[in-house]
Amino acid sequence: MIRVLIVKDYEEVSREAALRIAEIIRSKPDAVLGLATGSTPIGCYRELIRMHKMEGLSFSKVSTFNLDEYVGLAPDHPQSYHYYMFQNLFNHVDIKVENIHIPNGVAEDLDEECLNYEESIKRAGGIDLQLLGIGRNGHIGFNEPGSSFESRTRVVKLSEQTRMDNARFFKSLDEVPTHAITMGIATIMEAKRIILLASGEAKAEAISKAIKGPKTVMVPASALQDHEDCLFIVDRKAASLL
Ligand code: F6R
Repeated sequence: MIRVLIVKDYEEVSREAALRIAEIIRSKPDAVLGLATGSTPIGCYRELIRMHKMEGLSFSKVSTFNLDEYVGLAPDHPQSYHYYMFQNLFNHVDIKVENIHIPNGVAEDLDEECLNYEESIKRAGGIDLQLLGIGRNGHIGFNEPGSSFESRTRVVKLSEQTRMDNARFFKSLDEVPTHAITMGIATIMEAKRIILLASGEAKAEAISKAIKGPKTVMVPASALQDHEDCLFIVDRKAASLL
């Protein structure tokens, strides 16, 4: 079952998420976090940085695994998820670079990269807390509608809607990569805890379908209905169709 916390606005979504992440790090300093990119978690990362600077929250033993990365973008490309993570979180906290894991979108052998990624998650003891956003089409990570619930880390083709949604970060739609590496739905489901964040009306339909709709591969986030410890933190607008 998915539990839902409805809060006033984006600021509160961010604060509630950061509080829970901080709680895990404080009770288990070597926690393994699964992290997401996109617009939604930026406020949460900002709050975690504040907690690091003002409240002594330490990431020195924390390991992280990001959900996804664009194929073809090198880590120093400003639109890569590597770049995003360093800009929005890692450069501002005391995490050790060797504990950071993000799929390499320019690996020579992408399939091998995916297998190795799964192996490193296992070696780290699995993910304690996975943070997720949600696409307007219900995707989690880059698991687009139609992705098998058994899927694992792999190369996927991005849907046109996702490319258009993400074009705002690029100069033109043509520059948006067509493929990405993403953890699979089965990979995500193995996390011990999951927190999904959503803010704004554009996400209302996806949130409602994920929680109330039938479990279907056409709404990848509906797989989360079967997770034992999954919390959605959503603002009033994203909850408007619940
Ligand atoms: C990002 C990711 C995606 C985003 C989703 C929502 O790592 O896995 O599933 O969470 O596309 O993106 P925003 O937050 O930009 O609306």
